[in-house]
Amino acid sequence: MSVKVAVVYYSSTGAVHQLARALAEGAEKAGAEVRLRRVPELAPDAAIDANPAWRAHVEATAGVEVATLDDLEWADAYALGSPTRFGNVAAQLKQFVDTTGGLWQRGVMADKPATGFTSAHNVHGGNESTLLALYNTFHHWGSVIVSPGFTDPAVYAAGGNPYGTAHPAANGAPAENVLAAARYQGTRLATIAKRLKGLAVD
Ligand SMILES: Cc1cc2nc3c(=O)[nH]c(=O)nc-3n(C[C@H](O)[C@H](O)[C@H](O)COP(=O)(O)O)c2cc1C
Repeated sequence: MSVKVAVVYYSSTGAVHQLARALAEGAEKAGAEVRLRRVPELAPDAAIDANPAWRAHVEATAGVEVATLDDLEWADAYALGSPTRFGNVAAQLKQFVDTTGGLWQRGVMADKPATGFTSAHNVHGGNESTLLALYNTFHHWGSVIVSPGFTDPAVYAAGGNPYGTAHPAANGAPAENVLAAARYQGTRLATIAKRLKGLAVD
């Protein structure tokens, strides 16, 4: 028996999508069953078309399944990812989170481990504030927040962010050091989920 991890993300131009895939890989490596899900795009076509990278990403990820509330019911653990929007969580992910009231009332997300990841253009452009804003929701859900801390060399190698994997997009696409930190974060989430369920950990 293993654990089930839902990786739910929003991404406009692909950085957070890449982190989400790496997190999913890390969770799978720890033996978890993973659902990788994107939340629906809310922006009008005119805004998307104004940025060719955004349009290209929308088209490239059309095949990624869209997150549903069933994914949150199904999962034993959550990894939520969002790009920074003025130091905050993107409206697209927030909209999905704001549909979880019924699940919250039933305590579906309570006692389950949860973690976050993000990308801002600038190193100091709001990575931490976005993660902390995301973690407000986890507090309300009653989830067990599993941030990376400084628990592995991979965290230091990716810039040393103990709140969650964060990619400065000004550097280009996430490089191997950042993807390794995201994989580690996924492995850590799945491992702690196993421990909470009393399952054997390798
Ligand atoms: C409306 C808007 C607000 C943004 N706010 C910030 C910000 O506060 N700080 C920052 O560094 N980057 C900001 N960005 C840049 C994005 O966070 C950045 O491009 C991010 O890495 C994109 O991730 P993605 O490729 O997954 O979409 C903003 C972008 C948009 C469109």
